[in-house]
Amino acid sequence: MKLWSKGFEPDQLIERFTVGADRELDLRLARYDVQGSMAHIRMLESIGLLSKDELDKLLAGLQEIAAIIEEGNFRIDDGVEDVHSQVEFMLTAKLGDIGKKIHSGRSRNDQVLVDLKLFMRDELRRIASESERFFHKLLELSEKHKDVLMPGYTHLQVAMPSSFGLWFGAYAESLADDMQLLVAAYNIANQNPLGSAAGYGSSFPLDREMTTRLLGFADLHYNVVAAQMSRGKTERAAAMAIAAIASTLGHLAMDVCMWMCQNFGFVSFPDELTTGSSIMPHKKNPDVFEIMRGKCNRLTAVPNEIALLTANLPLGYNRDLQLLKDIIFPATTELAECLDMATFMLGHMQVRRDIVSDPRYDYLFTVEEVNRLVLGGMPFREAYRKVGLEVQDGTYRPVREVHHTHAGSISNLCSDRIAAKFDALAQKLK
Ligand code: ARG
Repeated sequence: MKLWSKGFEPDQLIERFTVGADRELDLRLARYDVQGSMAHIRMLESIGLLSKDELDKLLAGLQEIAAIIEEGNFRIDDGVEDVHSQVEFMLTAKLGDIGKKIHSGRSRNDQVLVDLKLFMRDELRRIASESERFFHKLLELSEKHKDVLMPGYTHLQVAMPSSFGLWFGAYAESLADDMQLLVAAYNIANQNPLGSAAGYGSSFPLDREMTTRLLGFADLHYNVVAAQMSRGKTERAAAMAIAAIASTLGHLAMDVCMWMCQNFGFVSFPDELTTGSSIMPHKKNPDVFEIMRGKCNRLTAVPNEIALLTANLPLGYNRDLQLLKDIIFPATTELAECLDMATFMLGHMQVRRDIVSDPRYDYLFTVEEVNRLVLGGMPFREAYRKVGLEVQDGTYRPVREVHHTHAGSISNLCSDRIAAKFDALAQKLK
């Protein structure tokens, strides 16, 4: 049975192909579909398209459906296309003709748009709060291990002293940049498209400011065509923020895999957080961080997938847009799960404290030596040459001490300022 039934049913093959994964995916939109419908009918009553009595009955009917959704018992029946149809059918089954009045002045095109905006707002907030937990874990560990030195590399060659304080703090501050994109994506999602109907508005005097208020949007997409165009753009902006966070997290996952390798041996985890091999009895593998790296790398492709899916579509609604859900829905969940796992794992990470006492890291301290000579009055180039020659003839002896005091360096991490930067952004998504 279709909302648009005109006396014939489409071929089963066509039905299955066009509905695709919607019956499953749309379950995540159900609560938002009901919220959108409640705002819409309140507005219809205010402009005289529903009586007060009809509104009350419809609201009660929608409340019941909302309760079924919250209990986890909402299903999209076989033969019903999507969540919008299911909610309307349930309402009509209960209330008869009144149920059929709910759709005046709207289309499934703007219904799905408004559902997606509400959904994206919540998902972006969920990602923000997972990012926040992860951020604070990173900063906590940065402070805790601020005195533990590790090698810094350039060209993957031993370069200069770094520290676990710098390493954890670097990912924390990098996440603050990603939060800028998350806030931007949230602001794009936080606009009301409802009232654009099929994409070109309606001849009913819809009060769009009222639905904007009722749904708690910051603003509305005024131009009805722009509102339709926002499908795809909203998801793409969210995907860019997701990709940015994923790339930060994927990078960290790579570091951990490498630091866990015996050739480095900088960090380790309790046995039960590692995985074994079916043949090599000694193995404790970093599978968690490998899966995380793989998932995060895949997530960085999501903006591209969306760009390709939506490239050069004709203006207005096209069914291709349905496939955006297949891309963005799993992406939000996957990122949130990776962030949660990363926070958990870092909480159990064991850090080796004596890494730089190993002679293979002697040359980490050559620049410190050069700088010491410069502070004693020797011109930099001369000091550089002197230490270089000592390295070359094997007489260089490292002094394993670092005195880095400027902002953002080993002994002056500026964690409080990094936290202030992040928290100001996170506040916008509360
Ligand atoms: N499942 C559809 C989607 O996600 C809902 C909108 C259907 N609109 C239509 N004109 N067929 O896009």
